[in-house]
Amino acid sequence: MTDTSLADAPGTTTAQRPFLVVDDLRVHFPTDDGLVKSVDGLSFELRRGEILGIVGESGSGKSVTAQAILGLHKGSKAQVSGRILLDEQDLVPLSENDMRGVRGDEVSMIFQDPLSSLHPFYSIGNQISEAYLVHNKVGKKAAKQRTIEMLQKVGIPNAAGRYDDYPHQFSGGMRQRAMIAMALICQPKLLIADEPTTALDVTVQAQILELIKELRDELNSAVIIITHDLGVVAETCDQVVVMYGGQCVEKGTVDELFDRPEMPYTWGLLGSMPRMDRVRQERLTPIPGSPPSLINVPKGCVFNPRCRFSDRVEGRRCFTEHPDLLETTGSTDPRVRHQVRCHIPPAERQEILLTEIRPTL
Ligand SMILES: Nc1ncnc2c1ncn2[C@@H]1O[C@H](COP(=O)(O)OP(=O)(O)OP(=O)(O)O)[C@@H](O)[C@H]1O
Ligand SMILES: [Mg+2]
Repeated sequence: MTDTSLADAPGTTTAQRPFLVVDDLRVHFPTDDGLVKSVDGLSFELRRGEILGIVGESGSGKSVTAQAILGLHKGSKAQVSGRILLDEQDLVPLSENDMRGVRGDEVSMIFQDPLSSLHPFYSIGNQISEAYLVHNKVGKKAAKQRTIEMLQKVGIPNAAGRYDDYPHQFSGGMRQRAMIAMALICQPKLLIADEPTTALDVTVQAQILELIKELRDELNSAVIIITHDLGVVAETCDQVVVMYGGQCVEKGTVDELFDRPEMPYTWGLLGSMPRMDRVRQERLTPIPGSPPSLINVPKGCVFNPRCRFSDRVEGRRCFTEHPDLLETTGSTDPRVRHQVRCHIPPAERQEILLTEIRPTL
């Protein structure tokens, strides 16, 4: 452990101490059909001033992970285990009540669906002011002032004039901005943004990512961005976790993930996902097959039913042995080690990347 003041100093982007440690997180839901293993042994670390991207196809466990960090499974049937250390405090054993104090004070979330977190019957301004009042001992007038400032900051034109508007009077892009204003007004040390730019036009997307980066720069916040868009990751994130079937199958710095991806699933994603920064979209090739059942997860490697390369591994290990998440030979950053969950021998992975994958991306 190192100097804690470093982690708290505004503007410091290289704090040594992780602010968020997710360690062997599991979120399982008992259902009539069996146990749904939505998140199964996920680990990552995030420092203040860093932006982590979580990517993966629909149903891979991204939102459930975010909900677990916010303690939103508390009081439900979900079985949550592992550790979620926020500033060294483990959130997993906290009661729903204690967790409520942490949320909003320290952690804010931008939800996948902006309407789900905006109440239709209260004005936008009131809702944001209320969020501010819950965590700050100020009068209503000061809260209103602060809200208008924040609405201006997220680019709502004539913010004072639109304070009393209701959610339905805002466009989709404006509602998303209003929700971001609500998430930022409490100056969270950790911001979790679940698909923050989905369904927004490209210009608005870019503005919202800029705002998130500003928060990171001004408050030295840690940020998690969940996205389907690898262009968003390339533009904003420092490190990436690739999720498949509730597990992390590859993680590393953004540069490593884009320059030297090693997991066949990551190769598939790179070829199949839209890229805001890529003009030519016509070469998108979907990954054949569909994501695994989270109740009957395939034996061996969770990706084996869709992997084109499992015959390169001797002894059918891909079908019998669950691969560990291991550091790659090319891992360069000691703080964010490049790790991959794959039985293909490392030298062969490099070879496949160079000769078969790279030319198609
Ligand atoms: N309360 C619940 N009970 C049972 N299963 C659940 C529950 N919540 C989520 N799941 C399941 O967990 C899996 C992961 O869901 P999650 O919402 O995390 O996916 P995601 O990666 O965010 O997908 P998307 O990209 O579509 O948002 C899904 O199969 C989902 O059906
Ligand atoms: Mg989701």
